[in-house]
Amino acid sequence: MKSIVFALPGNELLTEKIIQKTQFEKGDFILHHFPDGETYVRIISPIENKKVYIVCTLQHPDEKILTLFFLCKLAKDLKASSVCLIAPYLAYMRQDKLFNPGEAITSTYFAILISSFCDQLITLDPHLHRLSALDKIYSIPSLVLHASSLISNWIQAHVSNAILIGPDSESEQWLSQVAQKAGVPYLLLNKIRYGDHEVDISKVHAEKYMHHTPVLIDDIISTAHTMMETIKYLKQDGMKPAVCIGVHAIFAEKAYADLMHSGVQKVVTTNSVMHESNQIDISDLIAAVLENNAA
Ligand code: R5P
Repeated sequence: MKSIVFALPGNELLTEKIIQKTQFEKGDFILHHFPDGETYVRIISPIENKKVYIVCTLQHPDEKILTLFFLCKLAKDLKASSVCLIAPYLAYMRQDKLFNPGEAITSTYFAILISSFCDQLITLDPHLHRLSALDKIYSIPSLVLHASSLISNWIQAHVSNAILIGPDSESEQWLSQVAQKAGVPYLLLNKIRYGDHEVDISKVHAEKYMHHTPVLIDDIISTAHTMMETIKYLKQDGMKPAVCIGVHAIFAEKAYADLMHSGVQKVVTTNSVMHESNQIDISDLIAAVLENNAA
């Protein structure tokens, strides 16, 4: 069956790479926002009986979701055989339980919404913390890719004598894999979050790693307070400037500038969200899955 790949705005570079690697057709469509703020969508490429992939990473999801919905619905109306969302960053994964009475568990609501208009979901390292799998909330088939091999390759190529540091217990799932693949030790800290910008991290006890380069690894860098709080302790302990690696370059508000000015050696991310810190390319991972799907 033929496959065709559409890139929503902001996903063009990654999509180009995926298309180069798979030789899949690139989908042509028109997206227009009327002066009143409403959205116009028209698919130009023929898609009847084709498997449609839509690349739409989901940082700032509220701004994107309606356009995505229109495009997916239109693809089905134009008789695409199926519509698969490739969302390298999957939003709304952190409000996954009731923290206070009366709150919306938006992870579940968002999953219900996406599952209602997509046939399949492909994503990269979603924030699975209290949920063991996407299937717990998504009713469509989902495929989770992992950046751990790519991150460990990057560390091996760019950092000598690394000690990996994860900010909290949930980071152990990716930290341990990266450490094992890169053949380096890791330390796990404890984090308590009090608010959007208030994070408390347990002190790092890294005395025996004073000659190592600390490499902080987290799935999401949003306000960057998790990373900056950790860096504060590393500095107090006289450790070397840290390399910070995030899978998803969310960087809310001025987080990137703040992090860059916090005494780090380098900030590196994957291109799951396009950003100047992208140094780890995930297109091979996605292309391999699409080729497999097509086989
Ligand atoms: C949360 O549990 C995640 O794994 C990250 O640690 C968190 O999202 C980072 O957020 P921020 O950059 O705002 O501290």
